Amino acid sequence: MNKSYIWSLPTRAFHWLFVVGILIAFLTDDDHLLNYHAIVGYAVLILLVFRILWGFFGPKYSKFKDFPTKKIKEYSSNILKKESKYIGHNPAASYVMITMLVCTLLIILTGVLTYGIQEGKGILSFLNETFFKNMKSMDDLHEFFANFFIFLIVLHLVGIILDKFLHKEVETLKSIFTGYKNSKENKSIKLNIFQKLFAALMFILLISFLIFNLINPKNILVASINKPINYKVQNELFVEECASCHTLYPSLSFT
Ligand code: HEC
Repeated sequence: MNKSYIWSLPTRAFHWLFVVGILIAFLTDDDHLLNYHAIVGYAVLILLVFRILWGFFGPKYSKFKDFPTKKIKEYSSNILKKESKYIGHNPAASYVMITMLVCTLLIILTGVLTYGIQEGKGILSFLNETFFKNMKSMDDLHEFFANFFIFLIVLHLVGIILDKFLHKEVETLKSIFTGYKNSKENKSIKLNIFQKLFAALMFILLISFLIFNLINPKNILVASINKPINYKVQNELFVEECASCHTLYPSLSFT
């Protein structure tokens, strides 16, 4: 048995940053945390752009053309065979990975649309007035894709557990931490300078994006079309007499 280097550092870093991003997105799915939810969504988009380009210019096994999707028939009839033929993703995993990437893209797209239409926030905030009556449908789509994503995560985890039983010796689970899988021949990959540079630049872009949002919490990606009312300046009496109960002007007065 050989130890083959299959998942390069950028591939593994992407995987775990993606995990963290998706996790935070689910945890911030709350009206009060929507700004964070949106920023995490954009951060995941940066990760996604990296992974899609990596699928064309990255190392072997990470490239989409090395995803053995066409072998799915052969794979499904031999699924319980002891021998593991696929050192990168197997055909079933390839479909799950590609569906995950497409699904994430749809989640982000419907997310930005919902944020604009429903909340009047972000780069599509101008849609708030025109499409407000349709707002629920976009939110429903966003939620549908998010739930579908949970299903894909389950498939992914089931795949890893099956692999643990069927091809224990390959150590697939360990490979997403260390990068190494066990194989008959040494099939290690090596990154070229262009790939290293590209991965480093995308990582810097991600970190810069997060810092930018810390410094400019009201930037165009999360800015609202609604101007906040400073009640203290506009109507001090209201603040003194009524604001202990009414956080907004009651609808029948002060019009
Ligand atoms: C002790 C809490 C409290 C304070 C203080 C208070 N309100 Fe209210 N107000 C209420 C509650 C409770 C309602 C009923 C809300 C409902 O029916 O949903 C209400 C209802 C109203 C409504 C009817 C709202 C609507 O849209 O139908 C108006 C108008 C109103 N308040 C004006 C005022 C004004 C003006 C002040 C300050 C002078 C004030 N309130 C102070 C608790 C308060």
